Amino acid sequence: MQIAIDGPASAGKSTVAKRVTQKLGFIYCDTGAMYRAATVLAKEHHLAYGDEAGILAVLEKSKISFKPAHPGEDQPVFLNQEDVTLAIRTPEITNNVSQVSALPKIREELVRQQREIASGHDIVMDGRDIGTTVLPAAELKIFLVASAAERARRRYAENITKGIMTPLDQLQTEIEQRDYKDSHRQVSPLTKADDAVEIDTTSLTIAEVVEKIVTLAKKRKK
Ligand code: CDP
Ligand code: CDP
Repeated sequence: MQIAIDGPASAGKSTVAKRVTQKLGFIYCDTGAMYRAATVLAKEHHLAYGDEAGILAVLEKSKISFKPAHPGEDQPVFLNQEDVTLAIRTPEITNNVSQVSALPKIREELVRQQREIASGHDIVMDGRDIGTTVLPAAELKIFLVASAAERARRRYAENITKGIMTPLDQLQTEIEQRDYKDSHRQVSPLTKADDAVEIDTTSLTIAEVVEKIVTLAKKRKK
């Protein structure tokens, strides 16, 4: 069974995806981490974030891999042998990832890798284009949304625990700018699949969102 969870930045995708994964005994793939890893690759190789051919060349020679996620922690991500779990979430990478993820050849390569990861597994995959492009035949598609103010508050609280001190109003502006870029790019923009179930999480707890998705998954599996 495939469960696709899409939505804008900080809607709660990865937090609920990890818990749903654990409750159902599936595997989890955080596709945002893969676009972030490609952005780290560009930085490490001193490439411009819009250098499609340059980034593709290093991406094809690199291996992005994951270790199982623990609830409450980011899923461990490796770029070749290097642990990049923290490096992919710095403000510089966060503010440039949308430029890298708009490059068609980078998307093509990462979508290929994502389908390979999903092949033959019960999986929960989260991102922006999972229900529309990566896994269009997924048995359950969820589109998570929340107000921009609430999403900024969530990211602010999370950043504090990581020692990142970006002001709340700046975070909201950055989130809105990233949403705009992700929704307006030419290739696989962030859109709700026609057959996705939309859940507004603005005033829901994590546990409530997880419960809704697990209930839907159990119904679809029958
Ligand atoms: O956690 P957050 O919502 O801040 O972002 P993320 O899921 O880690 O994704 C980071 C960025 O990768 C997004 O802003 C998109 O530009 C890109 N992305 C994408 O284009 N397609 C996906 N399937 C997943 C992420
Ligand atoms: O993956 P995505 O960017 O969509 O969001 P996330 O990283 O899973 O969630 C962003 C933050 O919001 C995390 O710190 C979650 O604990 C929090 N969150 C929440 O407070 N309430 C929810 N219903 C969902 C997430």
